[in-house]
Amino acid sequence: SSSNARAVIDLDVAGPKINKHLYGHFAEHLGRCIYGGFWVGEDSPIPNEGGIRRDVVDALRALNIPNLRWPGGCFADEYHWMNGVGPRDQRPTMVNTHWGNVEENNHFGTHEFMALCELLGADPYVNGNVGSGTVREMSEWVEYLTRDGDSPMVRLRKANGRDKPWRVPFWGIGNEAWGCGGNMRAQAYADEARRYATFCRDHGDNKLYRIAAGAADDDLEWTEALLKAVSCLNCGRDPRSTFQGISFHYYTSEAGIRHGSATDFTDEQYYRTLIKAADIDRVIAGHSALMDAYDPARKLGLICDEWGTWWEVEPGTNPGFLFQQNALRDALVASLHFDIFHNHAERLQMANIAQTVNVLQAMILTDDNGAMVLTPTYHVFEMNKGHQDAQRLPVHVISQPEAVSVDQDQVVPISMSASIKDGRALISASNLSVDSDTTLTVDLRGRAVGDHRARILTADSPQSHNTAEANAAVRPADFEVSIDNGVLTAELPRHSFATVDLDLQ
Ligand code: AHR
Repeated sequence: SSSNARAVIDLDVAGPKINKHLYGHFAEHLGRCIYGGFWVGEDSPIPNEGGIRRDVVDALRALNIPNLRWPGGCFADEYHWMNGVGPRDQRPTMVNTHWGNVEENNHFGTHEFMALCELLGADPYVNGNVGSGTVREMSEWVEYLTRDGDSPMVRLRKANGRDKPWRVPFWGIGNEAWGCGGNMRAQAYADEARRYATFCRDHGDNKLYRIAAGAADDDLEWTEALLKAVSCLNCGRDPRSTFQGISFHYYTSEAGIRHGSATDFTDEQYYRTLIKAADIDRVIAGHSALMDAYDPARKLGLICDEWGTWWEVEPGTNPGFLFQQNALRDALVASLHFDIFHNHAERLQMANIAQTVNVLQAMILTDDNGAMVLTPTYHVFEMNKGHQDAQRLPVHVISQPEAVSVDQDQVVPISMSASIKDGRALISASNLSVDSDTTLTVDLRGRAVGDHRARILTADSPQSHNTAEANAAVRPADFEVSIDNGVLTAELPRHSFATVDLDLQ
């Protein structure tokens, strides 16, 4: 079937900056994300740079990854960084109890992670251990990484081959402290967060942006406990003295969806997935409203440092490794999330998809024979990268095709966002309908437009995905749109994501 939608974009009303860090990533010691995904070791036949897979780095560089969170996740709260520095063959091993109970050889440690960030051109976001660590251990890690001059940790770093300190802008104070990070209650963790953050010092010019481990989904009580720990209602206190950001995690996974297959699902499951993904809007709005009450000047940032789809693992793979396929449906979850993230750009300052390679909603799938597959989600990150650090433009969707109802919930078929940077505008539009193509008309008001370039990501069905054998089943293609007298018209096919890049005059 076919339908119509109409929108208006004000090209001359530049709004808040869309922080580039909304396009952040996450790499945990989990399954084959680090080992096999990023790290193959220097002796591997797979081409590598100091042990890090070259093809993976090259592919990710095209996304302009702004930051990479590491080493977890749940793993962060059992990781002892000292075991991951020094000669690799002398590093102690440990058991990764959260993820598959496998032995961790600590070959990928602090130096390897910082080398990876340098290769990617990404800012490091190191997540420290609160659950099973100590304040001293975390404090010394910060010193090891960022201090110049002479000190015990600086001497150790130098002995391990790195003279100059690194720049580490982002620091996590534990992870999911309400669960795998220590099963703490909100008040207890809020106190721990203050204590740990106190000893994560700014050394020299390195200014840490400390992120307190936040809520699961819409647990506003958790967020409020953290806010109360640093501020109060209407007291005018600057809340940034201990930590500067508060995180939350939001997965598109729940009963009825979570245990579904990544590639074999019904139309109803497809729509339920998008309903769950769209609900992050309500969750962000809830945390933001609470933060506005305690921090009206918006000095603290809201950070969604884990998001994405969570499906059944691929048949025959270790259930603890969270290795899942990635279909066009996942790409539309990502494009929808980004529209929502852009809309919350005033408060939401960082987001990290879980996870970059071979785990959950990955950009890249690899195998041990050297194959590398770019997923549909990868292409959304690439097509949307022009939004990074651009200013949001108002998009008014004036008329929509009929919403799709599933029980009490509805999917609104057309989702859009737009931004402006360096005299160019970028428009993103998704058609989430499974069976209706839409003629989308957009009034481009306020500025004259020149040349344009449009691309589309779609495929035969929402289940379409890429494999080592068919690695281009879902990939972007040039897309024809017309622009006449400031009116853009696009035939947006069912289950598709499109971007239009406009030169402004
Ligand atoms: O991303 C996988 C896991 O999900 C993370 O380790 C944890 O923080 C979350 O529960």
